[in-house]
Amino acid sequence: MSTIPTADLYRDYVMPTYGRFDLALTHGEGSRVWDEDGKSYLDFGAGIAVSSLGHAHPALVQSVAEQAAQLIHTSNLYLTRPQGELAKLVVDLVGLGGKVFFCNSGAEANEGLYKLARKFGAPTGRHEFITFGNSFHGRTLGGISATGQEKVKTGFAPLVEGFVHVPFNDLAAVEAAITPKTVAILVEPVQGEGGINPATPEFLQGLRALCDGHDLLLMYDEVQCGFGRTGDWCAWRTIISSGADPDAVSWAKGIAGGVPLGAFWAGTRAAGSVPLCDLLGPGTHGTTYGGNPLAAAAGLAVLSEIGRSGLLENARELGAHLIRELEAMGLPAIRLVRGVGLMIGIELNDLPSSFGGEGLPSIRATKALMAEGLLVIPSGERTIRLLPPLTINGVEADEALVILRRVLGSAL
Ligand SMILES: Cc1ncc(COP(=O)(O)O)c(C=O)c1O
Repeated sequence: MSTIPTADLYRDYVMPTYGRFDLALTHGEGSRVWDEDGKSYLDFGAGIAVSSLGHAHPALVQSVAEQAAQLIHTSNLYLTRPQGELAKLVVDLVGLGGKVFFCNSGAEANEGLYKLARKFGAPTGRHEFITFGNSFHGRTLGGISATGQEKVKTGFAPLVEGFVHVPFNDLAAVEAAITPKTVAILVEPVQGEGGINPATPEFLQGLRALCDGHDLLLMYDEVQCGFGRTGDWCAWRTIISSGADPDAVSWAKGIAGGVPLGAFWAGTRAAGSVPLCDLLGPGTHGTTYGGNPLAAAAGLAVLSEIGRSGLLENARELGAHLIRELEAMGLPAIRLVRGVGLMIGIELNDLPSSFGGEGLPSIRATKALMAEGLLVIPSGERTIRLLPPLTINGVEADEALVILRRVLGSAL
């Protein structure tokens, strides 16, 4: 290894696509991570909702280590037991039958949904999607075309044709946007990058009814909100327990606790002569790594541990505690607290110029909290997100609350 400082390696050799913080992390344990100077941080970002089991969780470490020693990769030309077992587990957790395809990231999982919908609509000449303002669906060309935020699209025209954006939680706008070319609606049940905006129960139920009435596919992007983060395996069920089940869902992030894995599921509704889950037949879709034994073993370990250790209940209880306590603080810096389970957004008021230096309120607050040992994730201009590991305990939640009160309380 060279003696060049990490920040200099990044400056000189890594493309400058991210607005990164000046923090080089070396290792983690549970809800904590350490930087190169040995300073520890309470990690309430969890790698942007990825490290579901926190860091160095024994069950995940053991599963990955054992699988790595046995077989890391074979391609999808062959069968491997972990992929089959994980597919069964995902289908069981969704509880609606159907089948799963594995890939490597959230953007790629959504690409699968776009292709599934195009194939579904092709016989009737339909290919358009309705997506939503402030949504985020990934950084591929399809992903930025689907995303309802102008800032991700700038400079990349021409985009993929056929994505129409309407305001989130506005059912009348969706109905008005449906045309003879519409084939699917893609929605995050809880918008993540857009600032933690939960869909209303009426909205999801209404989308299901519109999809049924117009023969459209209802597709949920659960890349950020799925697999336990909201306190249920399926985020849409924390919004509404029945009457809004989808035709297809995408996941990534928390599914394998940080080992790159994405997935999409399709249900059994008819698509011509086959069920939707069999529509993408041999040769229509694929990826070299997707669902390889290493990633699938990680997914199995994470999902099993969430169930075994009661982490859904933990997310519900500690999420409600955090929201209650943040609201009760009544700090001038906090405009609003939104969230479901351990997916919490704190919307900030304008911060005084004396607080946290230059820049957007979300960035200044994130930096000020980081200096005091708490990692959070900025979102847009004025929201910070709390997305801690699902394994956090009450002591850690209260420790974060103390730091939040002290730091945000100093913004006078
Ligand atoms: C809802 C949602 N969809 C898709 C993506 C893209 O996932 P990835 O970064 O793994 O491609 C993200 C990432 O933040 C997301 O939050």
